Amino acid sequence: MDVKIYDKLAKKYDLATKIVSFGIEELWRWMFKREIKKYIKNGVLLDVASATGEMARVMDFDKMYLVEPSSEMVKVIVEKFEKKGFVKENFEVVFEEIPHIKMKKGKKEIIIIQDTAENLKLPEKVDLITAFMALRNFDDLEKGIKNLDFYLKEGGYFAVVEMVKNDSFLAKLILWYMDKVVPLIAGILVGMKKEYKLLSKSITALSEEDILKKFDGYEVITKKKLIFPIATMIIMRKNGKNFKINGKR
Ligand SMILES: C[S@@+](CC[C@H](N)C(=O)[O-])C[C@H]1O[C@@H](n2cnc3c(N)ncnc32)[C@H](O)[C@@H]1O
Repeated sequence: MDVKIYDKLAKKYDLATKIVSFGIEELWRWMFKREIKKYIKNGVLLDVASATGEMARVMDFDKMYLVEPSSEMVKVIVEKFEKKGFVKENFEVVFEEIPHIKMKKGKKEIIIIQDTAENLKLPEKVDLITAFMALRNFDDLEKGIKNLDFYLKEGGYFAVVEMVKNDSFLAKLILWYMDKVVPLIAGILVGMKKEYKLLSKSITALSEEDILKKFDGYEVITKKKLIFPIATMIIMRKNGKNFKINGKR
């Protein structure tokens, strides 16, 4: 995905998302968090394609890596967490070779890395990876997932929310809204009609099967449609011995 679009969107991203989704995205995020927390409450989190850092805000783990290639989005993340009382650490000796911004508040730590899923390097393995509306943006889905998988501990969780292909009437109506109406609203609201038109094109790039195929060897512990059928939530555990869906083979 062309990161320049996201650079341009960054400052208005949160507001525009709330308006064009009528707050549904926030509801999806809340449902996602609630489901994840059934399995894992805290630990080391890696949030990929973080955009403005909303996933980290709601997950609130003690240690969170945020990975985002857009420099303008990174600035928004830093400002957002500064407002929440996090302080930037300037001095870093631990993994200097990986450019990053570290912020701390008490025992909470966030590490922001400006990079793609495909190229990312981390100094440790994590307990949970969250990918909220992230996968369809990867330039190379297979490479991105493979690289992320490398940094996930055995028994760790990979949690995904993604817009997927769906042939129902309601899904078609929503897609029409996103293709025809959202760019108009975004044009009026943030002057970005063209960019939203481009984004709407990527929405149905993936199917649920495309995603699951890339996670062979993972055990699917939750797979649900969210309140509108174009979004799906999939939570997987690394290296389940048998590939299962909702506890059934
Ligand atoms: C729809 S937004 C993600 C929303 C975000 N996860 C959230 O919770 O609100 C997509 C993000 O993917 C980022 N992106 C684009 N290409 C990427 C890549 N190859 N790897 C990781 N992130 C990428 C974009 O810069 C953008 O911020």
